[in-house]
Amino acid sequence: MILDRRTVLTGAFAGVLALPAPLRALAADDVTRVDDLIARMTLEEKAGQMTCLADSFRPYNPPNPAAGIQDEKRLTDEIRKGRVGCLFNGIGVVGARRAQEIAVKNSRLGIPLLLAGDVIHGLKTIFPVPLAEAASFDPALAEKTARAMAIEATAAGLHLTFAPMVDVARDQRWGRVVEGSGEDVTLTGLFAAARVRGFQGRDLRRDDSLLACPKHFAAYGAVAAGLEYGSVDISDETLRETHLPPFGSAFAAGALTTMAAFSEINGVPATADRELLTDLLRGEMKFRGFVFSDYTADEELIAHGYAEDERDAARLAVLAGVDMSMQSGLYVRHLPDLVKSGAVPMATIDVAVRRILYVKTAIGLFDNPWRSLDENAEKTRIATAAHRALSRESATRSIVLLQNDGILPLDPAANRTIALIGPFGEDRDNVYGPWAFYADPGKGVDIATGLRAALPDAARLIVVKGCDVARPIDGGIARAVERAKNADVVLLAIGEAQDMSGEAQSRTTIEIPAAQQALADAVAATGKPVIVLLRHGRALALHDGVANAQAILATWFLGSEAGHAIADILFGNVDPSAKLPVSFPWESGQEPFFYDRKSTGRPVIDNRTEYRARYATTDNSARYPFGHGLSYTQFELTDLKLSDAALRWDRAIEVTARLTNKGKRKGSEVVQLYIRDRVASRTRPIRELKRIQRVTLASGDSMLVRFSLSRTDLQFVGTGSRIIAEPGLFDLWLGQSSVDGLHTQFTLYAQEATKG
Ligand code: GLC
Repeated sequence: MILDRRTVLTGAFAGVLALPAPLRALAADDVTRVDDLIARMTLEEKAGQMTCLADSFRPYNPPNPAAGIQDEKRLTDEIRKGRVGCLFNGIGVVGARRAQEIAVKNSRLGIPLLLAGDVIHGLKTIFPVPLAEAASFDPALAEKTARAMAIEATAAGLHLTFAPMVDVARDQRWGRVVEGSGEDVTLTGLFAAARVRGFQGRDLRRDDSLLACPKHFAAYGAVAAGLEYGSVDISDETLRETHLPPFGSAFAAGALTTMAAFSEINGVPATADRELLTDLLRGEMKFRGFVFSDYTADEELIAHGYAEDERDAARLAVLAGVDMSMQSGLYVRHLPDLVKSGAVPMATIDVAVRRILYVKTAIGLFDNPWRSLDENAEKTRIATAAHRALSRESATRSIVLLQNDGILPLDPAANRTIALIGPFGEDRDNVYGPWAFYADPGKGVDIATGLRAALPDAARLIVVKGCDVARPIDGGIARAVERAKNADVVLLAIGEAQDMSGEAQSRTTIEIPAAQQALADAVAATGKPVIVLLRHGRALALHDGVANAQAILATWFLGSEAGHAIADILFGNVDPSAKLPVSFPWESGQEPFFYDRKSTGRPVIDNRTEYRARYATTDNSARYPFGHGLSYTQFELTDLKLSDAALRWDRAIEVTARLTNKGKRKGSEVVQLYIRDRVASRTRPIRELKRIQRVTLASGDSMLVRFSLSRTDLQFVGTGSRIIAEPGLFDLWLGQSSVDGLHTQFTLYAQEATKG
């Protein structure tokens, strides 16, 4: 399966030219019904449709600061008055039905509520965090898991999820890197589209179709220095080249909602940025759905220093293009007055309400307001064995083997003692990862449980914590060292707790916490072989006893089946095949670090380091680069060939190479195609990922991998923000990471020129 950037870049600007199918499918009488409804709505009811509030009927402790209405009686009253259009972050069919009955039977116009929630990587069956799953480099897998999540979310009385998060994260100090697909625009775009397809399925009117909401529009992943909610200062070209294409891919895949980011771009908060939310999103990208604000983000325009007061904030947000205000209540409190005073045209309100009602129509809510409120589905479709099996499969496909001196895979039958050391050995509180607040606490499979289930003699597993996540334990290291000395091999379960990752979890360093590093160094000093099992929601800078281990597995936050998946990989039941979606630097100080960086005028070449673009205090490469990941077998790429070294303007060339499994075990490899535009009217990255292809081969087998490349793959955003391609010389690599590969060159010839 060949996946390419074409769908990503053009998706942002061309692929969404056509209306997304679900809106195209609105029948004429649907449109008439919406128009009739709008004609009958009072101004307050219109403002109500544009209001989304936390669900007090089915309260869950979402990761949001308490704000607004928090009790069922007041919320009931608001719904009855037609002052609410959407509830979010509650689950459960009984509570949902209660809320829907008030809206449909007790309000004047009976407009059904839209029911939304943050199902980011699972409802009750928790899948690996999105960043982990991106390591599979397999969007088809993400589509499958998103489909499973949608089945569970809709069975629990939800119509929409605030996902996928499609922010391209360029700084690992930012905690929300965990929610996306990493540092690369192509990979993020492929996963964005796959997750939208998975959530929504083929028919939005089905009761197991879950509306997607690709977020956070836009460039939230570019916050300065990785500081959460911080400011973004980037050129229009970078915005369009790096941060918008994944939204284009998500819209092209059929997403009908999006969410404005908390952050500002170049001095204008996204929530009040008309150029962003109307001129660009709707004018250029032809987005036809509706825009949520983020949680109280309209009210936060005051704190941004961009709005005078609540009324001004509501005015700025609605005029910018925010259709649905989340949690602040500003719209229902201030829009009627703003319209009556002439500060906001009624037409602006009607357009927003129409967008919202079209989406409710598209999912069949007017025909069947009880859609996705089926108690039998709630009993039978959630936390099924099939979903747990899929979670385990996705988890094994997310684990990246960073280094291995040959110690892995372990033979489970070997007669030896295994010491499982570290704060995450038996921990069940940090298995799911952030954004899994619907999950049942403590139900995830911890590492020790997974290992015991896989070992013929579980007595051979000795478990000792050694230290807490961030603090030493009295005598903990001594006990751990003593256990290590009596063991044949040590598994070191260390890394981040889930509350160190996700929203509002920016960190100044991305190192392992000091207490754990001390434990790792002490265990390493015993001389026993050490296998590190990293738990993390971002790239980490590894040092000393951790970095020098005989083997290191990046296991992220793997969800419900974490322990079994780790055992599957450790004992070789599954061959590791994942690749890094984010670069692991040597030092935190290298952040923001990403592989597709610019050359500069003084690049480090041939080890020349005098007066060169480099930090004087560290190796300036990545310790583990984007796209890196080992397996238990060895793959070799040979015979790189181009069908032609001249790429004509309107033609394509074929790229082929032979991939061989030179090892003794079956395995999977992800072949990656990178290019570099040697000379351009705006500087280009030293490498850009264009294609990925995942291949599974038995020992000794080989196959021809084949890609097609055309001018559209070479397009970039030139100065003045035009999408252009320019004739000239290109490098091409076909490799197994962003730093290796077979190399060749080709030339793109201008329209009129022919082959020289
Ligand atoms: C949060 C997040 C957003 C989430 C929303 C609702 O603050 O920024 O991603 O969907 O609020 O919980």
